[in-house]
Amino acid sequence: PDDLQPGPEPTVHTQEAYAPEDDFTAKWTRADARQLQRISDAEAPSRENSMPAALTMPTVPQDFPDMSNGEVWVWDTWPLTDEDGNQYSVNGQEVIFSLVADRSLGFDERHHYAKIGYFFRPAGIPADERPENGGWTYGGLVFDEGVTGQIFEDQSYSHQTQWSGSARIFKGGEIKLFFTDVAFYRNPDGSNIKPYDPRIALSVGKVHANKNGVKLTGFDTVTDLLQADGTYYQTGEQNQFFNFRDPFTFEDPAHPGETYMVFEGNSAMPRESATCDAEDLGYREGDPYAETVEQVNASGAPYQIGNIGLAKAKNDELTEWEFLPPILSANCVTDQTERPQFVFKDGKSYLFTISHRSTFAAGLDGPEGVYGFVGDGIRSDFQPLNGGSGLALGNPTNLNFAGGQPFAPDFNQHPGHFQAYSHYVMPGGLVQSFIDTIGTHDDFVRGGTLAPTVKMDIHGDTTSVDYSYGDGGLGGWADIPAGLDVNSGGKL
Ligand code: FRU
Ligand code: FRU
Ligand code: FRU
Ligand code: FRU
Repeated sequence: PDDLQPGPEPTVHTQEAYAPEDDFTAKWTRADARQLQRISDAEAPSRENSMPAALTMPTVPQDFPDMSNGEVWVWDTWPLTDEDGNQYSVNGQEVIFSLVADRSLGFDERHHYAKIGYFFRPAGIPADERPENGGWTYGGLVFDEGVTGQIFEDQSYSHQTQWSGSARIFKGGEIKLFFTDVAFYRNPDGSNIKPYDPRIALSVGKVHANKNGVKLTGFDTVTDLLQADGTYYQTGEQNQFFNFRDPFTFEDPAHPGETYMVFEGNSAMPRESATCDAEDLGYREGDPYAETVEQVNASGAPYQIGNIGLAKAKNDELTEWEFLPPILSANCVTDQTERPQFVFKDGKSYLFTISHRSTFAAGLDGPEGVYGFVGDGIRSDFQPLNGGSGLALGNPTNLNFAGGQPFAPDFNQHPGHFQAYSHYVMPGGLVQSFIDTIGTHDDFVRGGTLAPTVKMDIHGDTTSVDYSYGDGGLGGWADIPAGLDVNSGGKL
């Protein structure tokens, strides 16, 4: 479009597929990410959205209902899926897993106390016929106290917590719960005695459902699947602030019978000596807006080196895995490429990941939200969606003003700047997320429950919000519908 702000051209990406085992990592480049500022309206006044409406989640009202009826804080949430991402109910009950924490904690303290809980509700009821808060019943925690701490050789942890993952449902109601098992070793002042230890882990259990409710059994042991290796995926030794988490398993349509996993990582460089190169910058020959590698490396941008990892299962039980090279790097672009997932549509592989405004590298900016990339296979020269920007669905944000923090929004920011996070793309382009903070500097409320589900149309290398869905684009609160039932038809 001709209403773009001045700036560099995005990198040329072919979308060409490589074998999953190949040593090719697509680059989300600085030239790509700078399109985020090019599509932003430089004239947008205080408290208004500067980003295109088609890529902006409709504004969520401040008087949201709480899905847990006051029992727990709720954030990252995932459904029961098969190898193709289809969502399942079990004997007529929909089941979801969420990170939860005690409401006596401040919402920003949640990460060190997160535990995986579950909710259920009857399947097959349209969103507008359910109770306003989604109609979920909180079922409690998945794990008994002590179970997830057992895999750590060093038992002297100060905090032991369960972070995000995904859940695969199998015939008979077996669930393979993939998650991030984390130990922190901290002093009382919050500094590290040694780096935290996040591991990609599996626990197996069973769901028992009937019209009266849902119970889980099993989940009494944890298998340690993957620890960052320092070759493809940065370790705590290389950077005490490293990211390694959020497993999502799937079957690649191009390789039936194999199971793969994507997860969040960082490029495996030591924090203090990390550098980016010309390919990470990605400028076209002679682009007048190009930066030099020296400028970028001197700017502090190499502290932000997120990547998306790939691993392959070595057995049918999915208890043994091997790392493959990362499929995407965001070197000098962003430090966090969280909760990655694949959606397969129209013969294309869509890779989605969530990222924060505050984790973009020096010189870059973009909203909180979900970012997307399309290619011809699960390892491709991925094209960032929507003009190279990568933005698929962001919060209403004004890039002309600072963001502030979820506990202290900036005075000039749109009230929706932190409205939702941890977007997860479901079948049919439905997107669920949790509420973080809604409101302006002088009048905001914290969330801790799921946002309204919205709908995104996905076409070729673009997405756009469907404003005809629900009420002006906002569907049901906490609406995570199952399309199939395990024991009565469906694939399982
Ligand atoms: C090999 C392969 C290649 C193809 C790639 C795409 O495993 O099937 O033939 O280029 O994977 O997924
Ligand atoms: C996203 C996230 C995940 C992580 C969890 C920890 O909101 O940061 O990457 O697993 O939250 O609370
Ligand atoms: C803070 C920081 C964070 C980032 C991390 C990268 O010092 O720059 O923004 O997550 O370090 O190592
Ligand atoms: C699900 C599945 C199959 C695969 C097996 C383990 O049934 O992912 O696609 O063959 O489990 O590898």
